[in-house]
Amino acid sequence: MQRNFYGLAFQVWGANTNVGKTLVCAALARAHLRDSDRARGALLYLKPLQTGFPSDHDARFVFRQALGTDTRINEPENALEYVSREHAFSCRTLYAWRLARSPQEAAAAATAGEPFSHASLQRPAGGLASPELDSSTVLEHIENALKNAGLSLFMVETAGGVLSPVSASGTLQADFYRAVRLPGVLVGDARLGGISTTLAAYEALRSRGYDVPAIVFGMGPGLESADRNAAAIRAQLDPEETPIVEPYLRVFDAHAQASLAQPAQGLVSVDETAQRFIEHLRHWWCRRAIRWQDMLRESDQVLWWPFTQHQARRMPSASEERAQTTLIDSAYGDDYTIIKSVKRDVSGMSPQKRTSSSELTQERWFDGCGSWWTQSVGHGHPTLNRSIGNALGRYGHVMFPECVHEPAWLLSKRLLNSVGNGWASRVFFSDNGSTAMEIGLKMAFRLAQKRGLFDLSRASDVGIVGLEGSYHGDTLGAMDCSPSSTFNQLQTPWYRGRGLFLKPPYCAIWNGDWQPDAPQGLDAAAQRRRHERYREYHRSIAEELARHESMPLGALVLEPVVQGAGGMRIIDVVYQQALIDACRQRAIPVVFDEVFTAFWRLGALTGASILDREPDIAAYGKLLTGGALPLAVTLSSEEVFTAFLGEKRADALLHGHSYSAYPAGCAAANAALSIYERLTSAETRVFDGALLAPVRALSTKPGVGAVSAIGSVLAVQLTPLTSAEQADERLLAARQTRVLSIARQQHGIYLRPLGTTVYALVAPAQTPLHRAADLVRALDRALDLAAVSKETANAATVTPIV
Ligand SMILES: Cc1ncc(COP(=O)(O)O)c(C=O)c1O
Repeated sequence: MQRNFYGLAFQVWGANTNVGKTLVCAALARAHLRDSDRARGALLYLKPLQTGFPSDHDARFVFRQALGTDTRINEPENALEYVSREHAFSCRTLYAWRLARSPQEAAAAATAGEPFSHASLQRPAGGLASPELDSSTVLEHIENALKNAGLSLFMVETAGGVLSPVSASGTLQADFYRAVRLPGVLVGDARLGGISTTLAAYEALRSRGYDVPAIVFGMGPGLESADRNAAAIRAQLDPEETPIVEPYLRVFDAHAQASLAQPAQGLVSVDETAQRFIEHLRHWWCRRAIRWQDMLRESDQVLWWPFTQHQARRMPSASEERAQTTLIDSAYGDDYTIIKSVKRDVSGMSPQKRTSSSELTQERWFDGCGSWWTQSVGHGHPTLNRSIGNALGRYGHVMFPECVHEPAWLLSKRLLNSVGNGWASRVFFSDNGSTAMEIGLKMAFRLAQKRGLFDLSRASDVGIVGLEGSYHGDTLGAMDCSPSSTFNQLQTPWYRGRGLFLKPPYCAIWNGDWQPDAPQGLDAAAQRRRHERYREYHRSIAEELARHESMPLGALVLEPVVQGAGGMRIIDVVYQQALIDACRQRAIPVVFDEVFTAFWRLGALTGASILDREPDIAAYGKLLTGGALPLAVTLSSEEVFTAFLGEKRADALLHGHSYSAYPAGCAAANAALSIYERLTSAETRVFDGALLAPVRALSTKPGVGAVSAIGSVLAVQLTPLTSAEQADERLLAARQTRVLSIARQQHGIYLRPLGTTVYALVAPAQTPLHRAADLVRALDRALDLAAVSKETANAATVTPIV
C-alpha cells in the first residue's frame, strides 16, 4: 500500500450512538463546498457500514444537506453512491443492512438466514455481497481512496460508538479500523452524562494508538450540555494531545426546534464555524507532516543507533542517494506504517505548485524481522494493551525486593508451570536478555563452586563451555560467553572470551533435503541415525572436555537448537543433547539461553522441549511479553537457589535493576502467556510445517546455500553465484542488499541480513498462514531478481549489520 498526502483525511467517531456524527459530517461537507478559497479538489464522504437501510441513509443525508435540501438528486433512495460532478463531491456507502440495529446484530441476522437479497444487504462497492463483513474490502477501499491525489477532503464516518461491534464476529470498531489509523474527529456526547461517555471513547481511541486532533459537539435540541461538556473535557486533556475541543459547531438550529429524527428540516448556517474547524484540522495535518519531515531530517543528528556505522550514512551532500531513515509512524498486527520522503518531479509544474521538490508517502510494510525478534501476537494487541494500561493505572512502577504484586506473582507461577515445568522453582526478574544471561552466569558460577568445580583461589580463571557462533548479548559479561568476533573483540579492551568454545555441527535444508535430519518430527530411520551420531558426538565432546581439564569450567552456556544472531542456524539437536549429557556427567551447571528460542518461536514451547533436556538455569526475554514491553527473567532450579543461602548478606544474589519485575511488563507477559497457552505445535511450525514445500524450493536456487526453517524462523544463506562473486565478497554483499531492497520496494516486506544470510520471522501467534506464504513467495522472487540484476546496491539501502 502506498499513499501520498495531498488532502485532509479523517475518521469521524461517535462517543455514543445518536450524538450527531452524521450532522457533523454534513456540516463539514457543506462548509467545505461553500468555501470559495478551498484548495481545488474532490470531497469524498464514506459510510462503510450502514444499518436500517434505506430509511437510515447517512450518505444520502450528507449529500443532500451539503448541497442544499432543494437540490435535485437523480439517484434513487437506496443508491450506494451519490455523485455531484459539478461539485466534485461524492457520498458512498459500502455495506448496508436493512435491520435497524447495530452492524453486529444486522450482520448476524443476515447470516442467520434472513433472506439474502439486495434489500437486506447491499453489495459492497466493487465486491461480492456477503453477509459477514469483509474487513479487508473496507480497509482496501479506504486505502485506495487515500491514494487518490485529487481528493482534498475525505471523511470516513463510523457506525455507533467507538467500541460498538462492527460485524457478526464482534470485532470492535476501534480495532476494525486500526490498520489504517486515520486521525480521528470524535463527536462528543452533548447530553447529560456525556462527559463520561466522551472521555471513555477518547481513552479507548488514544489507547489504541489513534491521533484524535479534535473533539467536537453537535449542538441542537437535546444536546444543550455541549458547552458545559466541552469545557469539562478540555480541562481534562493535554492540549498537545488534542488541540481542538470545539463546542460551537452548531450543526443544528436549536431555535428551530428541529429534532434529530427530522433532519430534513435542514442545517442552519454554520459554515463559518465549520470552515474554521476544517482549518484547524488542516493546520494539525500540516504540522504532522512537518514533524515527519523534521524527524526524517534531524534523526541522523541526534540519534545514535545500535549496530549502525553512522559514517556510512554521511554521503556527499551532492548525492541524491543519501541513506534514508525509516520513519515508522505506527505498527499494527504484522505491519509497520512507514512514512517516506520521495523526490517529486516538478519539471512540468507551475511555480505555485512547485512548493517542494519532495513529498511524503505512506507505505505498509510487513515486519519481517519481528522488530528484533520480539513480536509474537502482533503489534498493538488490544488485550495486551488493556492489561498494560491496567497495570500502569494500578501501580505505575513499584519496589520489588521483599515485596510482591499480583502481576509478578501470577507470572512467576505461570512460568514455573510452563517453561520451567519439571525443573525450575525460582524466578528472578530483570529487563533484557543480556542481563538475564548475566544473572544466569552468576547463578551458575555459584552452583559450580558449591559443587566443588573450582575454589575461590582459581575464581579468575573460571570459564564456560560454549559454542562457536553463539550470541548472548552485548553487556560485558555476556560478550565473554562467545568466542572473539567483530562484535566483542573490537568493541572493548576488556573482552576476554572466557571458555572452551566448541564448533557445533549444523543442520539445514540443502538443495531440497534436510541434512543431517530435520530437527523435529523424525521417522524411525532418522531416529536410528540419531543414536549413532549421538555416540560419536558424545565421545568427541568428552575427549575435548578432558583435554581442557586444567580450565575450571563454571557453566555450559548454549542457545538451544537455534543460534539467532549467529545466522539463524539450526544446530544438530543430537549434538547439543550429547554436549549437555557430557557436561552433566562432570557436574557442570547447564544454562540455556532461551531469549530467542522460547514461547513457540521454534514451533515448540521452548528450545529445551525440542532438545528433550532440562537446564539448571534458563534466561527468557523477547517474546515473553509478546513484544509489548521489555522484560526478562532467569529461572533456576532449587539447587541453584539454595546455593545462595548463607549467614552473610554477601552470600545472597546481590543483583537488581530499577525496573525489576516492572508490573506493566509482568501484566503484558501474563496476557501473552494466556495466548500462548492456546497455541499448538502444528500451527506454529510454519516454515518447517505447512510451508515446507516452497521453503525447500528456495534451497534449490542458484546462489543459495543452506536454508534454515524452523517454526516461525526462515533463513537463506547466500553463496557465490559467479566466479566474480567468489573472488569479491562485496559483490555477494551487493546481491544480498538487492534482495532486501526488492523485498522492501516491490513486496513491502522489511527484512534484515545477518552475515551473508537473509532471514525472515513471522509472529507465531499472529501471522496468518497466507501472509507467511506470501513472504516465502516474495523472497523467492527477490532472490531470482537479485541474481539477474546487475545493479549495484545504492546507498539508500545501506546494508544494516543485524
Ligand atoms: C540468544 C540471545 N541471548 C541474549 C540476547 C540479548 O537480549 P537483549 O537484546 O534483550 O539484551 C539476544 C538478543 O538478540 C539473543 O538472541
